[in-house]
Amino acid sequence: ADAPVQVTLDASKPGAVIDRHVFGQFAEHLGSGIYGGIWVGKDSTIPNTRGIRNDVVGALKALKVPNVRWPGGCFADQYNWRRGVGPERKPIGAGEPNTFGTDEFMDFAQQIGTEAYISVNLGSSTAQDASEWLEYMTASADHALGAERAKNGHPEPYKVAILGLGNESWDCGGAMSADFYVNEMKRFSHFLHSYNPAQPTMKRVAVGPSGGAENYTEEVMKAWKSRSWSWDIDAMSLHFYATGGWPPHMADTGFDEKDYAVLLKDPTAMDDMIKTQSAIMDKYDPEKKVALAVDEWGAWLAPTPGSNPGALAQQNSQRDAVLTALSLNVFARHADRVRMANIAQMINVLQAMILTDKDKMVLTPTYHVFHMYVPFQDATFIPLTFDAGTYTTNGVTLPRVDAVAAKDKAGKVWISVTNIDAKSPATFSVSLAGVKATKASGQTLSAPKVSSINTFDAPNTVAPKALSAKVAGGKLTITVAPASVTVLGLE
Ligand code: AHR
Repeated sequence: ADAPVQVTLDASKPGAVIDRHVFGQFAEHLGSGIYGGIWVGKDSTIPNTRGIRNDVVGALKALKVPNVRWPGGCFADQYNWRRGVGPERKPIGAGEPNTFGTDEFMDFAQQIGTEAYISVNLGSSTAQDASEWLEYMTASADHALGAERAKNGHPEPYKVAILGLGNESWDCGGAMSADFYVNEMKRFSHFLHSYNPAQPTMKRVAVGPSGGAENYTEEVMKAWKSRSWSWDIDAMSLHFYATGGWPPHMADTGFDEKDYAVLLKDPTAMDDMIKTQSAIMDKYDPEKKVALAVDEWGAWLAPTPGSNPGALAQQNSQRDAVLTALSLNVFARHADRVRMANIAQMINVLQAMILTDKDKMVLTPTYHVFHMYVPFQDATFIPLTFDAGTYTTNGVTLPRVDAVAAKDKAGKVWISVTNIDAKSPATFSVSLAGVKATKASGQTLSAPKVSSINTFDAPNTVAPKALSAKVAGGKLTITVAPASVTVLGLE
């Protein structure tokens, strides 16, 4: 057996707070992410509250979702919000009936207890139109559009906590050069306000890079440094998909250990990209006032065979669970700069939490990792030192293990350990400096195979199990299964 991994935890050297918004979700009008996944309509035989699935709401509530980014993605830059409000909805073909619009999204957000991250249409619409959308959402009924919302059955203004100023404007959001985008973004930032005194400010997110592109980062940050009173941003976005090489081609099921390892190289690539982009941001913003918002991330695989390729449907396996833990750990280690992230996407699309088919619903391995990581929301990062070692399979080399720790607001210390090695268990021996504890307990997520999945017929193939360990002589010792994720709280 491999030697135990010696980990040192020093609670006397806390780092930054891991912002709960790093555990955000993304729900785009794409495939069955909204229609079927969230919205079934009031007349559906599927149990619902005002058209929104009760089973999905119940499952999402347990994740304490901090924010949901909506309505896109690329969709946001072609979205006409007016077609999705009021009694007469204007469909855009069968795929977009517009029956789920602003009021339905806000109802959904309230049902799951999350904040709204609204991505406005900067690509194909105007600042006036986006400003009117905000008036519709956030103004009281003595404003014309607040009155329209009240007439549509929603007298109370909504809160918009986060505002996306375009999406991938270098490509689907309008194919804009960086300097052209910056001018547009400044105008939108200036003219868009929240009218709701209960949520007067909105975190404004500008478009940043994808891939290695740096010119957006330079232009956005240069502009921010010389900003005037009239506009501001709080974050710049970064999109990073784990694909094992573009275009998406890796199978979602039935893959081997090599493909497990190939995909798991990508969290390290994302870490590198965050470091590169953050270093550019540091030139203009050494105090890290502008957050990096990784507002699209996750595995993008080949579509499930037989599905409509445009729907971006894919299964979700234990490989996704390990990928999730490694990615969340990257964000935790960059907690001072990465203060927001949104996994793509919440339901039925790409690396989803939940899959649905008519009245059936199943929780994915990714869901379980998000659930296990809830204690890390707004907890303070505690640095760990350890030698991760290496795990090599089929010519692919990865770190053998990973681990992060944090202290929650109640003072409880949490540790997450991931065994990346698909064949051998791993033992962690954690020295706990500055933590008084006699035991650790929590949950572990492992699976018969790295490609194991949950299906509607077998929903618990990959499910967390309770786990506890003794702390003796200031040391926590725990052995975990191959390809597993474990989160423990010290008591
Ligand atoms: O998440 C799917 C798509 O990926 C989004 O619409 C777009 O922003 C990105 O390219």
